[in-house]
Amino acid sequence: MLLTGTGRLAPGGLSPWALLVRDGRIAWVGSPADAPSGDAVDLGAALVTPGLVDSHTHPVFAGDRSDEAAARLEGAAYTDGGILRTMRATRAADDATLETLVETRLRAALAAGTTTVECKSGYGLSLAEELRHLRILRRVAERVPVRVVTTFLGAHAVPPEASSVAEYAAHVADEMIPAVADERLAEFVDIFADAGFFDLASTERIARAAAAAGLGVRLHAEQLARTGAAELGVRLGAASVDHLEQLDAAGVTALAGSATVATLLPAPAIVLRDRLPPARALLDAGASVALASDANAGTYGGFGTMPMVIGLGAALLGMSVSEALTAATAGGAAALRRPDLGGLAVGMAADLVAWDADHEGAFALRLGAVRPLRIWIAGEEIDLRG
Ligand code: NIG
Ligand code: FE
Repeated sequence: MLLTGTGRLAPGGLSPWALLVRDGRIAWVGSPADAPSGDAVDLGAALVTPGLVDSHTHPVFAGDRSDEAAARLEGAAYTDGGILRTMRATRAADDATLETLVETRLRAALAAGTTTVECKSGYGLSLAEELRHLRILRRVAERVPVRVVTTFLGAHAVPPEASSVAEYAAHVADEMIPAVADERLAEFVDIFADAGFFDLASTERIARAAAAAGLGVRLHAEQLARTGAAELGVRLGAASVDHLEQLDAAGVTALAGSATVATLLPAPAIVLRDRLPPARALLDAGASVALASDANAGTYGGFGTMPMVIGLGAALLGMSVSEALTAATAGGAAALRRPDLGGLAVGMAADLVAWDADHEGAFALRLGAVRPLRIWIAGEEIDLRG
Protein backbone atom coordinates (compact mmCIF):
# COMPACT_ATOMS: atom_id res chain seq x y z
CA MET A 1 0.00 0.00 0.00
CA LEU A 2 1.27 3.44 -0.95
CA LEU A 3 0.07 6.44 1.05
CA THR A 4 0.64 9.97 -0.22
CA GLY A 5 -0.15 13.46 1.00
CA THR A 6 0.31 17.09 0.17
CA GLY A 7 0.28 18.00 3.87
CA ARG A 8 2.80 17.32 6.61
CA LEU A 9 4.24 14.02 7.78
CA ALA A 10 5.29 14.71 11.39
CA PRO A 11 7.46 14.72 13.38
CA GLY A 12 9.87 15.96 10.75
CA GLY A 13 7.39 17.83 8.59
CA LEU A 14 8.14 16.20 5.24
CA SER A 15 5.74 17.70 2.67
CA PRO A 16 4.60 16.51 0.19
CA TRP A 17 5.28 12.93 1.18
CA ALA A 18 4.80 9.31 0.17
CA LEU A 19 5.05 6.21 2.34
CA LEU A 20 5.06 2.59 1.26
CA VAL A 21 3.68 -0.07 3.62
CA ARG A 22 4.63 -3.69 3.18
CA ASP A 23 3.86 -6.57 5.55
CA GLY A 24 2.62 -4.18 8.19
CA ARG A 25 5.81 -2.14 8.23
CA ILE A 26 7.07 1.06 6.68
CA ALA A 27 9.03 -0.11 3.64
CA TRP A 28 9.93 3.26 2.14
CA VAL A 29 9.31 6.95 2.87
CA GLY A 30 10.21 10.00 0.84
CA SER A 31 9.09 12.50 -1.76
CA PRO A 32 6.18 11.48 -4.05
CA ALA A 33 8.44 12.21 -7.05
CA ASP A 34 10.68 9.30 -6.02
CA ALA A 35 7.91 6.96 -4.88
CA PRO A 36 7.54 3.46 -6.27
CA SER A 37 4.74 3.37 -8.84
CA GLY A 38 1.33 1.96 -8.00
CA ASP A 39 -2.09 3.02 -6.81
CA ALA A 40 -1.85 5.43 -3.91
CA VAL A 41 -4.23 6.26 -1.08
CA ASP A 42 -4.16 10.05 -1.14
CA LEU A 43 -4.57 11.72 2.25
CA GLY A 44 -4.62 15.23 0.81
CA ALA A 45 -3.55 18.01 3.16
CA ALA A 46 -4.13 16.05 6.39
CA LEU A 47 -1.41 15.99 9.03
CA VAL A 48 -0.12 12.41 9.34
CA THR A 49 1.83 11.13 12.36
CA PRO A 50 2.81 7.81 13.88
CA GLY A 51 0.03 6.35 16.03
CA LEU A 52 0.24 7.75 19.55
CA VAL A 53 1.77 5.55 22.27
CA ASP A 54 0.16 6.00 25.68
CA SER A 55 2.70 4.34 27.95
CA HIS A 56 0.86 4.78 31.29
CA THR A 57 -2.81 3.95 31.96
CA HIS A 58 -4.88 2.19 34.64
CA PRO A 59 -8.02 1.02 32.79
CA VAL A 60 -9.18 -1.89 34.99
CA PHE A 61 -11.48 -0.38 37.58
CA ALA A 62 -15.11 0.11 38.51
CA GLY A 63 -16.76 2.87 40.50
CA ASP A 64 -16.55 6.61 40.33
CA ARG A 65 -14.44 9.02 42.40
CA SER A 66 -15.50 12.32 40.89
CA ASP A 67 -16.81 13.35 44.32
CA GLU A 68 -13.32 12.80 45.73
CA ALA A 69 -11.76 14.95 42.99
CA ALA A 70 -14.19 17.73 43.85
CA ALA A 71 -13.42 17.41 47.58
CA ARG A 72 -9.68 17.44 46.90
CA LEU A 73 -10.02 20.65 44.92
CA GLU A 74 -11.62 22.09 48.06
CA GLY A 75 -8.62 21.05 50.15
CA ALA A 76 -9.02 17.34 51.01
CA ALA A 77 -5.78 15.30 50.94
CA TYR A 78 -4.81 12.71 48.33
CA THR A 79 -4.21 9.51 50.27
CA ASP A 80 -4.37 5.80 49.58
CA GLY A 81 -7.96 5.82 50.84
CA GLY A 82 -8.85 6.69 47.28
CA ILE A 83 -7.12 3.72 45.70
CA LEU A 84 -8.66 1.38 48.29
CA ARG A 85 -12.10 2.75 47.53
CA THR A 86 -11.60 1.84 43.89
CA MET A 87 -10.22 -1.53 44.98
CA ARG A 88 -13.49 -2.28 46.81
CA ALA A 89 -15.66 -1.23 43.86
CA THR A 90 -13.51 -3.21 41.43
CA ARG A 91 -13.43 -6.37 43.54
CA ALA A 92 -17.23 -6.17 43.68
CA ALA A 93 -17.63 -5.88 39.90
CA ASP A 94 -18.16 -9.10 37.91
CA ASP A 95 -16.04 -10.02 34.90
CA ALA A 96 -18.59 -8.91 32.32
CA THR A 97 -18.95 -5.49 33.92
CA LEU A 98 -15.21 -4.96 34.13
CA GLU A 99 -14.65 -6.19 30.59
CA THR A 100 -17.17 -3.71 29.25
CA LEU A 101 -15.56 -0.86 31.19
CA VAL A 102 -12.07 -1.77 29.97
CA GLU A 103 -13.22 -2.22 26.39
CA THR A 104 -14.96 1.17 26.38
CA ARG A 105 -11.79 2.83 27.69
CA LEU A 106 -9.49 1.17 25.17
CA ARG A 107 -11.85 1.97 22.30
CA ALA A 108 -11.90 5.62 23.41
CA ALA A 109 -8.10 5.66 23.40
CA LEU A 110 -7.94 4.12 19.93
CA ALA A 111 -10.59 6.44 18.50
CA ALA A 112 -8.47 9.39 19.68
CA GLY A 113 -5.37 8.16 17.85
CA THR A 114 -3.63 5.95 20.42
CA THR A 115 -2.45 2.83 18.62
CA THR A 116 -0.44 1.39 21.54
CA VAL A 117 -1.63 1.57 25.13
CA GLU A 118 0.11 0.34 28.26
CA CYS A 119 -2.48 -1.02 30.70
CA LYS A 120 -1.82 -1.60 34.39
CA SER A 121 -3.67 -3.78 36.85
CA GLY A 122 -3.46 -2.51 40.42
CA TYR A 123 -6.96 -2.09 41.78
CA GLY A 124 -7.22 -5.75 42.82
CA LEU A 125 -4.42 -5.93 45.41
CA SER A 126 -4.82 -9.67 46.07
CA LEU A 127 -3.42 -12.56 44.08
CA ALA A 128 -6.81 -13.75 42.82
CA GLU A 129 -8.06 -10.26 41.96
CA GLU A 130 -4.88 -9.10 40.26
CA LEU A 131 -4.85 -12.25 38.12
CA ARG A 132 -8.53 -11.72 37.29
CA HIS A 133 -7.87 -8.13 36.18
CA LEU A 134 -4.88 -9.14 34.05
CA ARG A 135 -6.90 -11.92 32.40
CA ILE A 136 -9.66 -9.41 31.66
CA LEU A 137 -7.08 -7.15 30.03
CA ARG A 138 -5.89 -10.05 27.92
CA ARG A 139 -9.42 -10.91 26.78
CA VAL A 140 -10.26 -7.31 25.89
CA ALA A 141 -6.94 -6.90 24.07
CA GLU A 142 -7.96 -9.82 21.83
CA ARG A 143 -11.04 -8.01 20.57
CA VAL A 144 -9.92 -4.37 20.38
CA PRO A 145 -7.41 -3.78 17.59
CA VAL A 146 -5.20 -1.40 19.62
CA ARG A 147 -1.79 -2.80 20.68
CA VAL A 148 -1.87 -3.50 24.42
CA VAL A 149 1.21 -3.76 26.65
CA THR A 150 0.27 -5.12 30.06
CA THR A 151 1.81 -4.17 33.41
CA PHE A 152 1.25 -5.82 36.79
CA LEU A 153 0.83 -3.13 39.47
CA GLY A 154 0.08 -5.29 42.49
CA ALA A 155 2.17 -2.79 44.48
CA HIS A 156 -0.23 0.11 43.96
CA ALA A 157 -1.32 0.34 47.61
CA VAL A 158 -1.26 -1.91 50.65
CA PRO A 159 -4.62 -3.71 50.95
CA PRO A 160 -6.45 -3.85 54.29
CA GLU A 161 -5.71 -7.58 54.69
CA ALA A 162 -1.94 -6.97 54.87
CA SER A 163 -0.32 -6.10 58.17
CA SER A 164 2.50 -3.94 56.80
CA VAL A 165 4.10 -2.57 53.66
CA ALA A 166 6.99 -5.02 54.04
CA GLU A 167 4.70 -8.02 54.46
CA TYR A 168 2.61 -7.10 51.42
CA ALA A 169 5.76 -6.34 49.37
CA ALA A 170 7.04 -9.83 50.20
CA HIS A 171 3.72 -11.32 49.05
CA VAL A 172 3.88 -9.33 45.80
CA ALA A 173 7.47 -10.43 45.22
CA ASP A 174 7.24 -14.07 46.28
CA GLU A 175 3.70 -15.11 45.30
CA MET A 176 2.10 -12.66 42.94
CA ILE A 177 4.95 -12.00 40.49
CA PRO A 178 5.73 -15.69 39.89
CA ALA A 179 2.03 -16.38 39.24
CA VAL A 180 1.75 -13.46 36.82
CA ALA A 181 4.92 -14.56 35.02
CA ASP A 182 3.79 -18.22 34.86
CA GLU A 183 0.64 -17.24 33.01
CA ARG A 184 2.51 -14.66 30.92
CA LEU A 185 -0.04 -12.07 31.96
CA ALA A 186 2.28 -9.04 31.96
CA GLU A 187 5.46 -7.72 30.37
CA PHE A 188 6.23 -5.23 33.14
CA VAL A 189 5.91 -4.80 36.88
CA ASP A 190 5.16 -1.32 38.22
CA ILE A 191 5.45 -0.13 41.83
CA PHE A 192 3.97 3.01 43.42
CA ALA A 193 7.34 3.94 44.95
CA ASP A 194 6.31 7.04 46.84
CA ALA A 195 5.83 8.50 50.30
CA GLY A 196 3.03 6.70 52.13
CA PHE A 197 2.99 3.83 49.63
CA PHE A 198 6.07 1.64 48.89
CA ASP A 199 9.39 2.67 50.45
CA LEU A 200 12.66 2.17 48.58
CA ALA A 201 13.51 -1.14 50.30
CA SER A 202 10.11 -2.67 49.46
CA THR A 203 10.32 -1.27 45.95
CA GLU A 204 13.74 -2.84 45.41
CA ARG A 205 12.54 -6.17 46.77
CA ILE A 206 9.63 -6.25 44.30
CA ALA A 207 11.71 -4.98 41.38
CA ARG A 208 14.30 -7.70 41.91
CA ALA A 209 11.57 -10.35 41.89
CA ALA A 210 10.28 -8.88 38.64
CA ALA A 211 13.69 -9.05 37.02
CA ALA A 212 14.19 -12.62 38.27
CA ALA A 213 10.87 -13.55 36.63
CA GLY A 214 11.99 -11.99 33.34
CA LEU A 215 9.67 -8.99 33.59
CA GLY A 216 10.64 -5.38 32.95
CA VAL A 217 10.38 -2.78 35.71
CA ARG A 218 8.72 0.66 35.72
CA LEU A 219 8.05 2.88 38.70
CA HIS A 220 5.62 5.55 39.81
CA ALA A 221 8.28 7.88 41.23
CA GLU A 222 8.74 11.32 42.74
CA GLN A 223 5.06 12.28 42.46
CA LEU A 224 4.18 12.98 46.09
CA ALA A 225 7.66 13.46 47.55
CA ARG A 226 11.30 13.48 46.47
CA THR A 227 12.29 10.03 47.71
CA GLY A 228 15.15 8.92 45.46
CA ALA A 229 12.87 6.52 43.59
CA ALA A 230 14.11 7.94 40.27
CA GLU A 231 17.72 7.05 41.09
CA LEU A 232 16.60 3.64 42.35
CA GLY A 233 14.81 3.11 39.02
CA VAL A 234 18.01 3.97 37.16
CA ARG A 235 20.04 1.62 39.35
CA LEU A 236 17.53 -1.20 38.79
CA GLY A 237 17.51 -0.65 35.02
CA ALA A 238 13.83 0.37 35.00
CA ALA A 239 12.41 0.96 31.53
CA SER A 240 10.73 4.09 32.81
CA VAL A 241 10.14 6.20 35.90
CA ASP A 242 6.84 8.04 35.74
CA HIS A 243 5.37 11.26 37.22
CA LEU A 244 8.55 13.08 38.53
CA GLU A 245 6.71 16.21 39.67
CA GLN A 246 9.11 16.55 42.64
CA LEU A 247 12.31 15.69 40.73
CA ASP A 248 15.26 17.99 41.41
CA ALA A 249 18.47 18.78 39.50
CA ALA A 250 20.30 15.72 40.85
CA GLY A 251 17.44 13.51 39.68
CA VAL A 252 17.50 15.13 36.25
CA THR A 253 21.22 14.40 35.98
CA ALA A 254 20.73 10.78 37.05
CA LEU A 255 18.04 10.21 34.43
CA ALA A 256 19.94 12.01 31.69
CA GLY A 257 22.86 9.66 32.08
CA SER A 258 20.71 6.54 31.93
CA ALA A 259 18.64 4.33 29.64
CA THR A 260 15.58 4.88 31.86
CA VAL A 261 12.87 6.98 30.21
CA ALA A 262 11.37 9.92 32.13
CA THR A 263 7.61 9.62 31.60
CA LEU A 264 5.71 12.83 32.30
CA LEU A 265 1.99 12.89 33.08
CA PRO A 266 0.76 16.49 32.94
CA ALA A 267 -2.96 15.69 33.28
CA PRO A 268 -2.97 14.31 36.86
CA ALA A 269 -0.43 16.97 37.86
CA ILE A 270 -2.99 19.63 36.95
CA VAL A 271 -5.95 17.83 38.49
CA LEU A 272 -3.98 17.43 41.74
CA ARG A 273 -2.76 21.05 41.49
CA ASP A 274 0.69 19.60 41.87
CA ARG A 275 4.05 20.99 40.78
CA LEU A 276 4.86 20.34 37.15
CA PRO A 277 7.63 17.89 36.25
CA PRO A 278 10.90 19.46 35.00
CA ALA A 279 10.35 18.62 31.34
CA ARG A 280 12.58 21.34 29.92
CA ALA A 281 15.48 20.48 32.24
CA LEU A 282 15.16 16.77 31.37
CA LEU A 283 15.18 17.47 27.62
CA ASP A 284 18.04 19.96 27.87
CA ALA A 285 20.09 17.46 29.87
CA GLY A 286 19.54 14.83 27.19
CA ALA A 287 17.13 12.53 29.05
CA SER A 288 14.76 10.41 27.04
CA VAL A 289 11.24 11.78 27.70
CA ALA A 290 7.78 10.31 27.18
CA LEU A 291 4.36 11.91 27.62
CA ALA A 292 1.46 9.72 28.72
CA SER A 293 -2.08 10.16 30.00
CA ASP A 294 -2.09 8.30 33.34
CA ALA A 295 -5.83 7.80 32.82
CA ASN A 296 -6.98 6.16 36.08
CA ALA A 297 -9.77 6.02 38.64
CA GLY A 298 -8.77 8.81 40.96
CA THR A 299 -6.37 11.49 39.77
CA TYR A 300 -7.17 11.87 36.08
CA GLY A 301 -10.04 10.08 34.36
CA GLY A 302 -9.61 10.94 30.69
CA PHE A 303 -9.22 7.91 28.43
CA GLY A 304 -8.78 8.94 24.81
CA THR A 305 -7.05 12.22 25.55
CA MET A 306 -3.50 11.79 24.25
CA PRO A 307 -3.96 14.67 21.76
CA MET A 308 -4.60 16.92 24.78
CA VAL A 309 -1.59 15.48 26.62
CA ILE A 310 0.58 16.53 23.65
CA GLY A 311 -0.97 20.00 23.85
CA LEU A 312 -0.25 20.17 27.58
CA GLY A 313 3.33 19.04 27.02
CA ALA A 314 3.82 22.04 24.76
CA ALA A 315 1.62 24.67 26.38
CA LEU A 316 2.32 23.79 30.01
CA LEU A 317 5.61 21.89 30.30
CA GLY A 318 7.77 24.03 28.04
CA MET A 319 8.27 21.48 25.30
CA SER A 320 8.13 22.39 21.62
CA VAL A 321 5.17 20.85 19.82
CA SER A 322 7.54 18.62 17.93
CA GLU A 323 9.20 17.48 21.18
CA ALA A 324 5.79 16.81 22.70
CA LEU A 325 4.63 14.80 19.68
CA THR A 326 7.88 12.83 19.72
CA ALA A 327 7.47 12.19 23.46
CA ALA A 328 3.94 10.85 22.85
CA THR A 329 5.11 8.53 20.05
CA ALA A 330 8.78 7.47 20.03
CA GLY A 331 9.15 8.46 23.70
CA GLY A 332 6.28 6.23 24.78
CA ALA A 333 7.63 3.43 22.61
CA ALA A 334 11.04 3.74 24.27
CA ALA A 335 9.36 3.65 27.69
CA LEU A 336 7.76 0.35 26.63
CA ARG A 337 11.03 -0.91 25.13
CA ARG A 338 9.41 -1.13 21.71
CA PRO A 339 11.83 0.58 19.29
CA ASP A 340 9.74 -0.71 16.38
CA LEU A 341 6.83 1.57 17.34
CA GLY A 342 6.18 5.30 17.37
CA GLY A 343 8.24 6.43 14.39
CA LEU A 344 8.34 6.86 10.63
CA ALA A 345 11.62 5.15 9.76
CA VAL A 346 11.88 2.26 7.35
CA GLY A 347 11.30 -1.04 9.16
CA MET A 348 9.05 0.40 11.85
CA ALA A 349 5.45 -0.72 12.32
CA ALA A 350 3.02 1.03 9.98
CA ASP A 351 0.91 2.49 12.81
CA LEU A 352 -0.29 5.80 11.40
CA VAL A 353 -2.91 8.45 12.03
CA ALA A 354 -4.29 11.05 9.60
CA TRP A 355 -5.68 13.97 11.65
CA ASP A 356 -8.31 16.64 11.03
CA ALA A 357 -5.49 19.19 11.12
CA ASP A 358 -2.89 20.59 8.74
CA HIS A 359 -0.05 21.08 11.21
CA GLU A 360 1.04 19.45 14.48
CA GLY A 361 0.73 22.88 16.12
CA ALA A 362 -3.01 22.07 16.25
CA PHE A 363 -2.34 19.79 19.23
CA ALA A 364 -1.34 22.91 21.19
CA LEU A 365 -3.63 25.44 19.55
CA ARG A 366 -6.74 23.31 20.08
CA LEU A 367 -5.50 21.83 23.37
CA GLY A 368 -6.35 18.40 22.20
CA ALA A 369 -9.52 18.94 20.23
CA VAL A 370 -7.91 17.23 17.25
CA ARG A 371 -9.49 14.06 15.91
CA PRO A 372 -8.22 11.19 13.77
CA LEU A 373 -9.72 10.97 10.30
CA ARG A 374 -8.17 7.57 9.58
CA ILE A 375 -6.01 5.16 11.59
CA TRP A 376 -3.81 2.23 10.52
CA ILE A 377 -2.21 -0.36 12.79
CA ALA A 378 0.39 -2.63 11.20
CA GLY A 379 -0.82 -1.28 7.87
CA GLU A 380 -4.44 -2.37 8.47
CA GLU A 381 -7.01 0.40 8.49
CA ILE A 382 -9.12 0.51 11.66
CA ASP A 383 -12.88 0.84 11.31
CA LEU A 384 -13.53 3.85 13.54
CA ARG A 385 -17.26 3.10 13.69
CA GLY A 386 -16.53 -0.28 15.37
O1 NIG B 1 -0.79 7.27 38.62
N1 NIG B 1 -0.09 7.35 41.56
C1 NIG B 1 -0.64 6.24 41.66
N2 NIG B 1 -1.62 5.80 40.90
C2 NIG B 1 -2.44 6.59 40.09
C3 NIG B 1 -3.62 7.09 40.83
C4 NIG B 1 -4.48 6.00 41.26
C5 NIG B 1 -5.72 6.42 41.97
O2 NIG B 1 -5.76 7.44 42.68
O3 NIG B 1 -6.69 5.67 41.83
C6 NIG B 1 -1.65 7.65 39.40
O4 NIG B 1 -1.84 8.86 39.60
FE1 FE C 1 -0.35 6.02 37.33
